[in-house]
Amino acid sequence: MRVAMIGTGYVGLVSGACFADFGHEVICVDKNVEKVETLRSGGIPIYEPGLDLLVQRNVREGRLSFTDDLTEAVRDADAVFIAVGTPSRRGDGFADLSYVYAAAREIASVMNGYTVVVTKSTVPVGTGDEVERIIRETRPDADFAVVSNPEFLREGAAIDDFKHPDRVVVGTDDERARTVMHDIYRPLFLNETPIVFTSRRTSELIKYAANAFLALKITFINEMADLCEAVGANVQEVARGVGLDNRIGGKFLHAGPGYGGSCFPKDTLALTRTAQESGAPLRLIETVVEVNDARKRSMANKVIAACDGDVSGKTVAVLGLTFKPNTDDMRDAPSLEIVPALQKAGARIKAFDPAGTLEAEKLLTGVDFVSGPYFCAENADVLVIITEWNEFRALDLERIKSVMRAPVIVDLRNIYSPEEMASAGFAYSSVGRPT
Ligand code: NAD
Ligand code: UGA
Repeated sequence: MRVAMIGTGYVGLVSGACFADFGHEVICVDKNVEKVETLRSGGIPIYEPGLDLLVQRNVREGRLSFTDDLTEAVRDADAVFIAVGTPSRRGDGFADLSYVYAAAREIASVMNGYTVVVTKSTVPVGTGDEVERIIRETRPDADFAVVSNPEFLREGAAIDDFKHPDRVVVGTDDERARTVMHDIYRPLFLNETPIVFTSRRTSELIKYAANAFLALKITFINEMADLCEAVGANVQEVARGVGLDNRIGGKFLHAGPGYGGSCFPKDTLALTRTAQESGAPLRLIETVVEVNDARKRSMANKVIAACDGDVSGKTVAVLGLTFKPNTDDMRDAPSLEIVPALQKAGARIKAFDPAGTLEAEKLLTGVDFVSGPYFCAENADVLVIITEWNEFRALDLERIKSVMRAPVIVDLRNIYSPEEMASAGFAYSSVGRPT
């Protein structure tokens, strides 16, 4: 199969590289010339474990290439995937579909022979209909089908998620398109990955429903953590106790500073807007959005409380800035709320992140970015763990204590136990656990 991937970001690059690894001939397109140049010269514009080797191997073996010329990629393609961004629209929170529609127009003007146009971007219900209308309007003669094929990968585990998904969802009524999609994903079906063939609208909604449910689960356990703190219970044990019930499941029950990232925040918000507009409001998800936003903002108060109510003139050492470990993605990261709130309260911030510093420098001002956890802790009055990178899980606590001005740790990811922190001589607070 010849595949064109429009948009070479977190999803497009991983999907393109994995499809090439399945044996297809893939051309990834991006309008960001710098990105394409980086990829052509063997670099990877994002941090995603394992992606460099996967890309290099498939380029070497002649199945994967990069271009900023959409025509070159689309002209001979059997399937064209749209994997461009769908950020929140400024002002109203609906998904901004301008990149998707622009891509659809460009594809329409150059496609040739029967072409399956696949929306991999996360798009609201009905977007496929509009993509189809745009293509038909631009090229009344075109032979094509528009398919929805949402992506469920997580950053930081993207390759494994793509190659071993829990399911593949394909939304189309077109028989020929079904066959093309089946051929593209054939290696997964041979491994007995379930495929959900459904209507385009249902497929579009499945993606939002999945993200909203996961966001709901996280928000549930976060509120439970607050209750645990109020009544002296342990949220990790509550999560384990309920998660062992197969009907609930133990995943996505880690309490923390609130979900962030490029998807849950924008997708939950966009879903509430679609639902309101359709006259079927999702009150539960509206509440999730509100509770999560408030939670991210309130995490600074936890740090201030650990400093006896005042961080003014104090130095706060922050470990981890990205929205989760194993990515350089800073979009809607909790750190973007917590750090400015602490600065507003008068704190001086030192920060270390293993991969996110370049991005963080563009988004946070007045922060002293340092090159490791021990430099970060030096002369700090409090150390805050915001993101649970593995390298923060086994810090030399003696060394940390010896360089800090005061032995105070706020662990927003519960990666240490209160007992070990107490015996190491730290004043320690975490999320939803007795101190
Ligand atoms: P991204 O911002 O990392 O990448 C999008 C890329 O598309 C950019 O490089 C941009 O330059 C390029 N682009 C935009 N318009 C273009 C055009 N007309 N022609 C060529 N290139 C164009 O975005 P992302 O994180 O990869 O997300 C893409 C979509 O996938 C979104 O809808 C998102 O919700 C969804 N999604 C993301 C993830 C994730 O983990 N990031 C997971 C599942 C689904
Ligand atoms: C999420 C979904 O997990 C993917 O299935 C989906 O494809 C993707 O969004 C998307 O649509 O883009 P991602 O945002 O990469 O993936 O990362 P997650 O691991 O889901 O984490 C999202 C946020 O929730 C992070 O801030 C993380 O710290 C937080 N989280 C996650 C928790 O606070 N607790 C948990 O138990 C799990």
